[in-house]
Amino acid sequence: MLTHDIIIIGGGLAGMRAALEASKEVDTAVISKSHPLRSHSGAAQGGIAAVLDGWAEKIGDSLESHIYDTVKGSDYLGDQDAIEILCREAPGDIRSMDKMGAIFSRTEEGVIAQRDFGGHSYARTCYAADKTGHILLQTLYEQMMKNRVKVYSEWHVVSLIIHDNICRGVVAYDMAGGKLQVIRARAVLLATGGYGRAFSITSNAHANTGDGLALAYRAGVPLQDMEFVQFHPTGLYKHGILITEGSRGEGGYLVNKNGERFMERYAPSKMELASRDVVSRAIQTEIDEGRGIDGYIHLDLRHLGKELIMERLAQIHDIALSFANVDCVHEPIPIQPTAHYSMGGIPTDINGRVLGVSGLFAAGECACVSVHGANRLGGNSLLEAIVFGRRAGISAVRYVKKAAIGGVSSRTLDSIEHEFYGLAEMDGSESVADIKNDLQTVMTGKCGIFRDSRKLAEAVKETRILRERFNNIGISDRGMIFNTEMMEALELRNLLDFSEVIAASALAREESRGAHYRTDHPERDDAGWLKHTLAYRSETGPLLEYKPVTITSYKPERRMY
Ligand code: FUM
Repeated sequence: MLTHDIIIIGGGLAGMRAALEASKEVDTAVISKSHPLRSHSGAAQGGIAAVLDGWAEKIGDSLESHIYDTVKGSDYLGDQDAIEILCREAPGDIRSMDKMGAIFSRTEEGVIAQRDFGGHSYARTCYAADKTGHILLQTLYEQMMKNRVKVYSEWHVVSLIIHDNICRGVVAYDMAGGKLQVIRARAVLLATGGYGRAFSITSNAHANTGDGLALAYRAGVPLQDMEFVQFHPTGLYKHGILITEGSRGEGGYLVNKNGERFMERYAPSKMELASRDVVSRAIQTEIDEGRGIDGYIHLDLRHLGKELIMERLAQIHDIALSFANVDCVHEPIPIQPTAHYSMGGIPTDINGRVLGVSGLFAAGECACVSVHGANRLGGNSLLEAIVFGRRAGISAVRYVKKAAIGGVSSRTLDSIEHEFYGLAEMDGSESVADIKNDLQTVMTGKCGIFRDSRKLAEAVKETRILRERFNNIGISDRGMIFNTEMMEALELRNLLDFSEVIAASALAREESRGAHYRTDHPERDDAGWLKHTLAYRSETGPLLEYKPVTITSYKPERRMY
């Protein structure tokens, strides 16, 4: 049986940052269903926020301002103790990525360049042109290799092994080997990223099926604040591919069919750089009220000029040209909001410990610390991945130094195996692809940017029906080596499990806050709803409980941009 001190599930930024830290002291392995360098963190284009000495004083920025902007951006649902850590530790983590060799874009004076981003009061987003995620991934991968972290690439975890509330390892499908493998560990860290693939239009990679959330949920861990789904304002029309906020940070405009910069009506002071929830709702309103152009809005970069576009937004230029046949030097880009980020996830403390299970940790997008509350600011997600990835790695090491390798009962393994091979042999009449399409249609239509009780109640009901249909799927590929049909079924099961939680949590929350907008309850209701949702799995659907928000310095006030 394979054994490691720490197993990290997920080879994106949070997972690799945790692995780098853990591997300094203990035997560490990363399991990733794709190669780590193909992780979705690579799709984060525009940057990573931090208040850096030198530049900050010049522009009047401060740590307090970053904290305040993040609290305000979260619509006061973010836990302020965690937000303080995020912002305070940001400069150190950026400097250490810089020292490791991350090639940040620089000013003429040679310091790290920083650009404007939505919801931030100052230009504090460090970037590497429009490929920031890629650059950080490459850098961490090199460091991880140097530390000889074992990588199980193209292995898909099907279950956590938990006995007596202690996590003792995982069972994974080794795709190339064509079999199930048990890996024992003293600690397991989930860093599986987000779940945009529950929606039809998304900026997320195909791999983003919320696997870690479903693993934890099925193991009895509650999911926190799942109703808060971020729609990024500028996805490429019909494809959903991210067109970075950096393009608006560099000065790009949003324009409707009348040529009007409509953000003036929605967020007169921040305009295109209001927080994402505000800009996405504005774009969708323009489209819904007939001021869009065939279902989209224009992002106009022409006035920025070719030189700036090719220097700082070259990937955007390439994406628009390749997928929409639009040369953004000469034409505006057609965009629409796209499902982008999950504010909710697996509840952890500020050191990545998952509530209720010893030896289980989580970091990055799949976790909910909660630093983003009801709406995340751009640039704070790469930041969360490296700050809380590092912290979770350190705290997992501290834990494993005192933890023994636990026994794994053959009864547990038998039942996991039985379930897995049972799925592989299903020969029902339902198609995985059809159920997935139907799920995406339900989630987009009924659990999207604008919600109400009727649509949400239907979403709850329909996600349950889809789960029943899943019990009658057919898998035609009987081989086990690279059985991609089986992989898609496993991913769909995950999508179905937590989509019901999103819908049920959204139906229960009768207010509008951040990215959760209820047309039937359009106001924020601090008296009733300034609290986190916790959804527990039960046979009859999610059971909802609530817990208080940590407020330190900033009392909730009306949010204006
Ligand atoms: O727009 C972007 O470049 C995305 C960044 C983020 O989600 O933080």
